[in-house]
Amino acid sequence: MDKLLEPINQFLQCETPSSWIEAAKDPKNLPVILIDHLICELKAAQSAMFLIRKYAVDKESGDALLEWLKPFETLIYKREGNWRDLADKNKLTKSMIPKSNTPYGQDLIDKMVILIKEELHHFYQVLEIMDEYGIEYQSITPCRYAKGMLRNVKTYEPDALVDKLIVGAYIEARSCERFAKLAPHVDKRLGDFYVSLLRSEARHYQDYLKLAQEISECDITERVTFFGEVEAELIASPDEDFKFHSGAPTHP
Ligand SMILES: [Fe+2]
Ligand SMILES: [Fe+2]
Repeated sequence: MDKLLEPINQFLQCETPSSWIEAAKDPKNLPVILIDHLICELKAAQSAMFLIRKYAVDKESGDALLEWLKPFETLIYKREGNWRDLADKNKLTKSMIPKSNTPYGQDLIDKMVILIKEELHHFYQVLEIMDEYGIEYQSITPCRYAKGMLRNVKTYEPDALVDKLIVGAYIEARSCERFAKLAPHVDKRLGDFYVSLLRSEARHYQDYLKLAQEISECDITERVTFFGEVEAELIASPDEDFKFHSGAPTHP
């Protein structure tokens, strides 16, 4: 586990504040942590889908991607359908065809399709845990975290895509760090689940980062450092909101 976390901890410019861990291990905050985690898994799948629809695949493949995510989105946004029916829906049956003239290759498509599959599986696993703990889904507001990074994304290509991939890498890396930190403080069932997520989230972080460097025309080190500073500020500064990716809680 330490081997897995070493590059993540180097990549992130600050550690999760201990005040966040204190709040997150408080049983009264378990519902918000799990519900927000659930939404994060869906958002991770959605943003990966958005990237390949916008940049990489043809129209028909894009439609198949929309169809694929629909039952998951319907469950959350319309509160329709039985969550148990989603168990076998994390597979994509159509093969993805690249857009003609796209400069972004098969590698982006392949990595993102695997990532979406895994995020949808995690989504289902969080639903299972919520069911076991008797926690009901309810809609919650998103925290400032992702928006706080995305507002710095460039408006022209390919820099916009590169920036979005770097932001993706930070979200994955931070999630991984928090799951690892939280695991020893929660009950065994949940702790084991968090540990089981580390491997895929660590790979997602690396995939995003590799894609960013592949697609960029220049060295991305400076841009990575820039987003690292923005990210660290969002994590370390006081935050009135308490969510999975929130900052240092002001009222624990
Ligand atoms: Fe995930
Ligand atoms: Fe992930």
